[in-house]
Amino acid sequence: MATLDKPALKRKLKEKAGLVCERHIFLCLGPNCEPEIGKKTWRLLRKRFKELASEGRYFNCTELRCCSLCRSGPIAIVYPEGVYYSEVTPERCERIIDEHLVNGNVVEEFAFAKVPLLQIDSVSKKTEKKD
Ligand code: FES
Repeated sequence: MATLDKPALKRKLKEKAGLVCERHIFLCLGPNCEPEIGKKTWRLLRKRFKELASEGRYFNCTELRCCSLCRSGPIAIVYPEGVYYSEVTPERCERIIDEHLVNGNVVEEFAFAKVPLLQIDSVSKKTEKKD
C-alpha cells in the first residue's frame, strides 16, 4: 500500500471545491414545506454559492425531501452548528447566507433550535469509559 501523502490529499480536496466547505446547508423541498418557495430558495443558494466560490469561499447545499418536522417550512439546517431555521424564503436565505454561512453569526430571529454534531473526541471518550 502507498504511504499516505496528506499534503497531496489536501491539495486535491482544495481543487475539488464541492468537497471542501466552510458550512453545509440542508434545505427541505418536501411536500409539506412550501416546495415552490423552497425551489426558489434552492436556486438562490446555488447562484450565491457559485458567486462565493469565485471569491474563494466554499459552501455546500443538499436538498432534503423531508426532515420529519413538516411545519413552518421550508426548513433549513446549517452545519456544523446544527442550527434549524424555519420559513426560509429567498429573502431570509440571503440573510442566512450573509450572516451565518459567511460570517458565522446565527440569525437568531429565524432560528428555532440548535442541535450541534457530537465531537469525535467526546464520542471516543464515552466509548472508552464503557470499556
Ligand atoms: S416536508 Fe419538510 S420537514 Fe417534512
